[in-house]
Amino acid sequence: MITFISNSPETTAKFGERLAKKLKPGDILCLTGDLGTGKTTFVKGLAKGLKVDQAKVSSPTFVVMNCYDGKLPLYHFDLYRLEDIKEMGAIGYDEFLYGEGIAVIEWAERLKELMPKEYLQIQLEHQGPNERVIKLNAIGKRYETLIN
Ligand SMILES: Nc1ncnc2c1ncn2[C@@H]1O[C@H](COP(=O)(O)OP(=O)(O)OP(=O)(O)O)[C@@H](O)[C@H]1O
Ligand SMILES: [Mg+2]
Repeated sequence: MITFISNSPETTAKFGERLAKKLKPGDILCLTGDLGTGKTTFVKGLAKGLKVDQAKVSSPTFVVMNCYDGKLPLYHFDLYRLEDIKEMGAIGYDEFLYGEGIAVIEWAERLKELMPKEYLQIQLEHQGPNERVIKLNAIGKRYETLIN
């Protein structure tokens, strides 16, 4: 596990941007953390790193997933409003999760039994008004290589 502190939204976004450059098609990032810890801020940076038009990135409020076109397709899930895991099947989530793009999932813990076998877990925690603890945990070989 790698832990670091972000002391501004910009730092959190920059972290996403830098990580984007190391990602490969099919990579899955699972974000966890309370409301307002910076998950979407991180995704905005990630999108920038993948050359996605920034203005397009916001949390998918009424849908479970947004897809952005960049250097690689970016599939942005936000499961906050997911009421039933069956909704995931209805949108054909596995095609996105196990496809040729990058999948990033806010509130990933709500995937429950659909949680992938391997992924990079990114846990964000409040530490102060502008401070967040960001913890990276590699689940599976690919992600161990990635965080190393
Ligand atoms: N170090 C930091 N990193 C990220 N965001 C920060 C930081 N410090 C303050 N903030 C603020 O916290 C808020 C984070 O909002 P953001 O939408 O990214 O959170 P979220 O985790 O996606 O929330 P939600 O669960 O509602 O989707 C923003 O208003 C941002 O300006
Ligand atoms: Mg969000």
